[in-house]
Amino acid sequence: MMICAPVVTIDGPSGSGKGTLCQVMSQKLKWHILDSGAIYRVLALLVLYHQVDISSEKGIMALAHNLDVRFLFQNGDLRVMLKRVDISMKIRSQVVSDLASRIAAFPYVREMLLNFQRGFRKLPGLIADGRDMGTVVFPDTSLKIFLDANLETRTYRRMLQLHKNGVNVNFNELLSQMKERDERDRNRSVAPLMLRDDALIINSTHISKQQVTEIALDYVRTKINVSISKHYIQ
Ligand code: DC
Repeated sequence: MMICAPVVTIDGPSGSGKGTLCQVMSQKLKWHILDSGAIYRVLALLVLYHQVDISSEKGIMALAHNLDVRFLFQNGDLRVMLKRVDISMKIRSQVVSDLASRIAAFPYVREMLLNFQRGFRKLPGLIADGRDMGTVVFPDTSLKIFLDANLETRTYRRMLQLHKNGVNVNFNELLSQMKERDERDRNRSVAPLMLRDDALIINSTHISKQQVTEIALDYVRTKINVSISKHYIQ
C-alpha cells in the first residue's frame, strides 16, 4: 500500500494573494510548499545570467536540467534558494517578472518541469502555488483552490509589496504590465491559467487575508476529514 501525500493546489492570477495564503497554510499545517512561479522566475534569472537567447526554447530547456531550487522559511518568510544561495529578492524584479511570463509560455520547458514540481509532493502534504497546479501538475488532488481579485486590487497589492522591497513603481504602468502578463498567462496554448468547476473559488477583493486563510483552512479540514482515507491511500 502506497501512501500518497495530499496536495492543496492554489491557482490564480498574480497579486491575488496566493503567495501569502500558501505561506500561512504551509506554516499552519506544517506541510511542504511549492512556489511554482519562483521556478519560472529562477529560469528567467539564469537566462539573464547566462545570456541565453529568449527565443531559444532549447537553450532554456538546457538551463532547466537538474535545477537545484529549494524553499525554506526563515523568521516566517519564505526564501527561495538556488544551489543554496538565497535569490529571493533577485527574482522579484520587473525584468525577471516579464521574462518569467515569456518563458512560462514554452510548452517543452513546462513539460520538463513537471516531474521536478511533482517531486515536492511529500508527506505530510504539500501546498502548491501557481497557475496550473490543479489543472496540469496535480490534477488528481481533490483539494483545489482558485484565488482571484479584481485587477486594480491586485495591482495595488503588488505595488505595496514592491514598495516594501524598495522598488518604486507607478500604479498605471504596473497595472498595464499586470494586465499584459495576465493575458499572456490566460491565453497561452499550454497550461493556461483557467478555472475549472472542481476548485473552490475565493475572491479576495473585499475580504481580508485572515478571512481568506480561514475559508481555505476550513475547506481543507472539511475535505480531508471526509476524504483522506478514500483518496490518498492507493
Ligand atoms: O506567480 P508568479 O508571478 O511568481 O509567476 C511568475 C510567472 O510564471 C507568471 O507570469 C506566471 C508564470 N507561471 C506559470 O505559468 N505557471 C505556474 N504554475 C506558475 C507561474
